[in-house]
Amino acid sequence: MGRYDLSLIGFGGVNRSLAELIAERGDELKAELGFGLRVVAITDLRAGSLVQADGIDLPALLATAPGELDFSRMAGGSTEPRNQQVIQDGPGDIVAEATFTNPADGEPALSHVRWALEAGKHVCTTNKGPVALQGPALKDLAARHGVSFEFEGSVMSGTPILRTAEHLLTGLRVTGVEGIMNGTSNYILGRLEAGAAFPDAVKEAQALGYAEADPTADVEGFDVQLKVMILAHQVLGANLRRQDVACEGISQLTPADMRDAASRGLRWKLVGQATRREDGSVDARVAPAALPADHPLAAISGTTNAVSFHTDLLGAVTVSGPGAGRTETAYALLSDIIAIHHRHGAAEAHRTPEESFRG
Ligand code: HSE
Repeated sequence: MGRYDLSLIGFGGVNRSLAELIAERGDELKAELGFGLRVVAITDLRAGSLVQADGIDLPALLATAPGELDFSRMAGGSTEPRNQQVIQDGPGDIVAEATFTNPADGEPALSHVRWALEAGKHVCTTNKGPVALQGPALKDLAARHGVSFEFEGSVMSGTPILRTAEHLLTGLRVTGVEGIMNGTSNYILGRLEAGAAFPDAVKEAQALGYAEADPTADVEGFDVQLKVMILAHQVLGANLRRQDVACEGISQLTPADMRDAASRGLRWKLVGQATRREDGSVDARVAPAALPADHPLAAISGTTNAVSFHTDLLGAVTVSGPGAGRTETAYALLSDIIAIHHRHGAAEAHRTPEESFRG
């Protein structure tokens, strides 16, 4: 039985949840998947860095509240995040990157991903920025180093939308994709339908932990714009820049617009889409759309996300599910790790002397 050693970059909600999943379900996963998982390095802006090549004691670490973690007090620990040093020189077969991303340049996640791929490590990330802005270049980099670059959590968190796309693209022609890919804005639209004013709906979304203190990326469509770029590349092979994806958010919509739409049997939704034109080019945009009741996306309410793939043989194939959440997004990383195993096979899993891999 083999094993993968993981280096966790960022130890906020998502990677902490991944550590919890490994600690709680490690044995079950090992029996089911045929390989074990061990965390050998963690680096975090607040807690510092921790490198223990023979494996970090996760139950002990997770017993400490997030705000009280201080890696400098542990063997192999440091007060500094040391991201670059840990990624490039530290142990680990797979880097799980879950820091944050500036939508303009993809940093710092983009550098983390690059450093790891250049060091010949497989990477899974939950960050949209590196994938949307540099996805093709990063995939080339991974291929040159013979490793995987996986990013299921960059769109719809753990809901397997990118793997569904990969599946559909085998044997089907997919002509376009459209979806509700931002739970915060979908929640706000629901509150507008219930009669709330836009600023009050935003405050409610913030109080519930959906919207950030600065809700711009969610309500003005920029979050969806990056997700459309990722889907356009994965599904249609298009390399789009942000300026190629026209973007309009929901901040101009009012309860009166909702009532007017309802009286005509319509619902306003923030829709991101990418469609292949007859000349082969791709039309991609993010904009509010008033959808008829029988549209596959019209009934998607609350923070749920959904994406419809338009195919030649099956018509519209729609997948709905959560689009955010720490455990949901941690599951995306786990699914990426499983995909890395399937792509690269048993031969790569770390072996202990007494163990031989059954693959
Ligand atoms: N802020 C996003 C949403 C989740 O509300 O759906 C992360 O992409």
